[in-house]
Amino acid sequence: MGINWSERIAQGAREMSSSAIRDLLKLTVQPEMISFAGGLPAPELFPSEEIGAACARALAETPAAALQYGPTEGHGPLRELIASWMSDLGMQASTGQVLITSGSQQALDMIGKLLIDPGAPIAVENPTYLGALQAWQPYRPQLLPLPMDDCGLDVDALESLLAAGAHPRFLYVVSSFQNPTGVTLAPERRRALVELAARYRLPIIEDDPYGELYYEGVRATPLAAIDCELHGELRHVIYLSTFSKLLTPGLRVGWIVAPPALIDKLGQVKQGLDLHTGSLAQVAAYLTCRDGLLDHHVPVLRATYGHRRDAMLAAMESGMPAGVRWTRPTGGMFLWVSLPEGWDSAELLGRAITHQVAFVPGRTFYPASDVTNTLRLNFSYSSPELIAVGVARLAAVARDYAPGGLPQL
Ligand SMILES: Cc1ncc(COP(=O)(O)O)c(C=O)c1O
Repeated sequence: MGINWSERIAQGAREMSSSAIRDLLKLTVQPEMISFAGGLPAPELFPSEEIGAACARALAETPAAALQYGPTEGHGPLRELIASWMSDLGMQASTGQVLITSGSQQALDMIGKLLIDPGAPIAVENPTYLGALQAWQPYRPQLLPLPMDDCGLDVDALESLLAAGAHPRFLYVVSSFQNPTGVTLAPERRRALVELAARYRLPIIEDDPYGELYYEGVRATPLAAIDCELHGELRHVIYLSTFSKLLTPGLRVGWIVAPPALIDKLGQVKQGLDLHTGSLAQVAAYLTCRDGLLDHHVPVLRATYGHRRDAMLAAMESGMPAGVRWTRPTGGMFLWVSLPEGWDSAELLGRAITHQVAFVPGRTFYPASDVTNTLRLNFSYSSPELIAVGVARLAAVARDYAPGGLPQL
């Protein structure tokens, strides 16, 4: 008799599952499929030559730094460069407060390990980033979902929760161009949120992978910068960001900026996970940034993705039936669509796939909700031409879709 492995799985891991939606999305790799499902950057914009040159330079000039084990907190020059960049954004962060992570996804796991005891409440936006929910599930928090609107998190709802005596271990917020809704926390709410956090001593995890990808106006001020402005130092916010959307996700290089009291513990958690982020990737990220690649590459990303967003908004406007609503994000990679009451986006996906177009149904992103009529569309991956064709297909499927007859508008 062999081992019954399902009995041996730890409690926290037992509740993990691969959703039916994921299985459906496996079908989206067919060549004719237009996929708005993944949250992928445009591969044709990857700065592969510059990254190749940086890797070659790293190996030729500093082979030991690129190939040897390195410090858990990250490659010194990269931490310094990020600290100076974050200071330009208004964070008073020393190099010692910057920790390099293997993508922001690892930072989320580290935060779960560090701050979540089984059953501990944590406050999250509703809907929120699926990867955060997945990272934290094994630590078994009690999720406290908070409502959002077109201006981001409803800070008054958070205040009511706190005033009623809830003590979340932290609040998790994707402050700009949120994944999945594309919504950005409004400036006045940012300030109110940091003031509230200070009043209730509530830690905020600010996840900001999309902040630089704005297509209108100026970059939103991170909550971490407002915390520094109000309190003279970083006190309440742990800030996460990543090179995934600005250079390439393949490097797996992200970072955490944290209050000094947390740095040692975060380092200890990371030691147990992977000792350190890949040295070659860190040195390559450092050299490309030091030589100014982001200064000319990020404007190209903004122009290209801004154009794709416009293409998607125009196609939605001209094709979608009455009663379908969507967000108009000013940056990032996603549109969030609300179908009429009673429609089921998972059912719509089944039909859309037969018409060679795919998206992610919204239900995956809710920590706890029976909402079935929302969905997420990605606009960064496909060309404007494909976006026009794909949205036209989706609109045709939506026009034909009538759950139990015509929708009640
Ligand atoms: C909100 C959010 N946080 C974190 C991540 C993970 O990013 P990384 O590639 O740096 O692990 C993503 C990726 O899509 C994201 O959307």
